[in-house]
Amino acid sequence: MDVLTVPEHCPDYRGEPLRLGILASGNGSNFTAIVEAISAQTLPAVITGVIYNNPGAGVVQRAQAAGVKSHLVNHRDYPDRESFDQDIVSTLKNWGTEWVVMAGWMRQATEVLLQPFGAQVLNIHPSLLPAFPGIKAVERALAAGVKITGCTVHRVVLAVDSGPIIAQAAVPVLPGDTVASLHARIQQQEHRLYPQAILWAAVGNS
Ligand code: GRF
Repeated sequence: MDVLTVPEHCPDYRGEPLRLGILASGNGSNFTAIVEAISAQTLPAVITGVIYNNPGAGVVQRAQAAGVKSHLVNHRDYPDRESFDQDIVSTLKNWGTEWVVMAGWMRQATEVLLQPFGAQVLNIHPSLLPAFPGIKAVERALAAGVKITGCTVHRVVLAVDSGPIIAQAAVPVLPGDTVASLHARIQQQEHRLYPQAILWAAVGNS
């Protein structure tokens, strides 16, 4: 049985729809969860667009299906992380983005990306931070023999997976779990948690 530590909805948000720019490197299931929360009117937001860095990333088809524009910024085309981030910032600003939502974004942010958006850069990570920051978090949690893991939504700072925590959901590790089975259950919670946490961040509850 999964353990979720957040309620299903957020009280009283009366502002303009949040303008979310999504950064994704891969599959994009968290992107879809955000789209669905917007459709269900549990998240008062619009998605300004999706930036992806890997040609062929699954998120591109998801964006197309959702009627959201997507734009490739391939880090392999840039001499350094700063110039890569500068192009991302330019695109996000052109779209009128207010919140940067990393959803499976596998690049480390520089000041160039963080400074223009301040505290409004969010990330989701598949562990209960500060445990298991960085890559292969699910694999390392399983190898460590923890009995509870989960996912964390946090604000992004320069150090990887280290910013202030907005919300977490706990997921028990079950006997016989593989990396795939455990990650699948963590992702179920990610899809509930991320839309909720975006709204919490925006209303200042976290
Ligand atoms: C998620 O598990 C997230 O926590 C991690 O990368 C994965 C992205 O999944 N940062 P998806 O691309 O949203 O399906």
